This record gives sequence, C-alpha cells and structure tokens, in this order.
Amino acid sequence: MSQRHKEARFNAKLRPDMTPQQIAEMFDDFADDYDELKEVGFSYVDALDPAQKMLDVAKTRNVYRRLICAFMDKNRVEEIETDFYDCITATAAFNEGLVPCNAFPQMIRIVKPGGRIVFTVPQRNIDNAVEYRGRLLPLIDKMAAEGVWDVTAVPLADGELSHALGPGFFTV
Ligand SMILES: C[S@@+](CC[C@H](N)C(=O)[O-])C[C@H]1O[C@@H](n2cnc3c(N)ncnc32)[C@H](O)[C@@H]1O
Repeated sequence: MSQRHKEARFNAKLRPDMTPQQIAEMFDDFADDYDELKEVGFSYVDALDPAQKMLDVAKTRNVYRRLICAFMDKNRVEEIETDFYDCITATAAFNEGLVPCNAFPQMIRIVKPGGRIVFTVPQRNIDNAVEYRGRLLPLIDKMAAEGVWDVTAVPLADGELSHALGPGFFTV
C-alpha cells in the first residue's frame, strides 16, 4: 500500500475530539497490512508506538531491539533513559490527535546532547490540525530562540510529507 493510500485511509478517520486511546485502537486496526518497515543502517533501533498491534507487526521485522508501547506526549516514558538515543525520528506521527506539541520536552529528554530529532509534518496539518495550527512552528522557533535546540536543516524538496515549512532536523 502506498504512503498516499495509507494517509488517505486514516486521515478520513482522525478527528480532533478523539481520545488517545481511541487513536491507539484505530492504528491497532491498521497494523496487519501496514507493512512498510524499512531497512535502516543503524545498529540499535527501538520502536515506540501506543498501538500494541503496530509493535507486534514491527517485531516480526527483526529490526527493533525494544518495542515500547507508549504515547509520546508530555508524560515521561519510564522505559526510556535520559540522553539515550543519538537520534529519534517520527514520520507521519504529527497528525490530528497524534503527537502533541507538548511532547517536545520528552523527545529532547531521551536524545543525547548533540543528538538529532527528525520529524515530518505535512503542511496541511500545520495549517489545519487543531493541535498545531498557529502553534507548532512558533513553538519550534521559540525553543530555538531559547537555546533548547538548534534548527540545523529544514527543507526537504517537496511531496506530501516534506513541505519547506514542515520538516526539520533539530540538534539538542
Ligand atoms: C501513520 S502511522 C506512521 C507509522 C510510521 N512512522 C510510518 O511512517 O510508517 C502513525 C503512528 O503514530 C502512532 N501514534 C499515535 N499517537 C502517538 C503518540 N502520541 N506517540 C507516538 N506514536 C503515536 C500511531 O499508533 C501510528 O502507529
């Protein structure tokens, strides 16, 4: 299934009034045919997702060391040590009702100083998602101004998940 098809399928179902639990259950429903887990060139890779079935499928790929069933949000994920990862990535996870703006401190906590946080946000979500509209980009800039992270690169060419104002690479 193409990325575009996957997005079309769940975007139709995501609503701003959904609870985190409802969102996790929705992705549980998608896990069986969500089959593009990718070859990566890193020697140690963990996966975090609140949908257990997504993790069950991920486990079959024999890529991930730890499979952590948790939300990335304002709450501390106890399984993950502080300053642990060289890099964290999130693709297609900044969407209506998914990773909230207040997750950034936890994302920063688990990345080593000098590490990377890489994520993509479709422009339509920056413009329309209740959580991000008018907040996400100003927050990213504010945190950079405060020295919390450096925005070290921004634009990826074009396409659904890589608008010039969307994705960023951050150095903590
Ligand atoms: C569209 S899928 C993207 C999966 C994968 N990153 C990819 O690109 O193929 C979005 C995933 O985000 C997960 N998710 C939802 N809310 C989340 C949160 N607060 N923290 C972490 N993951 C979350 C969902 O369960 C789902 O598996």
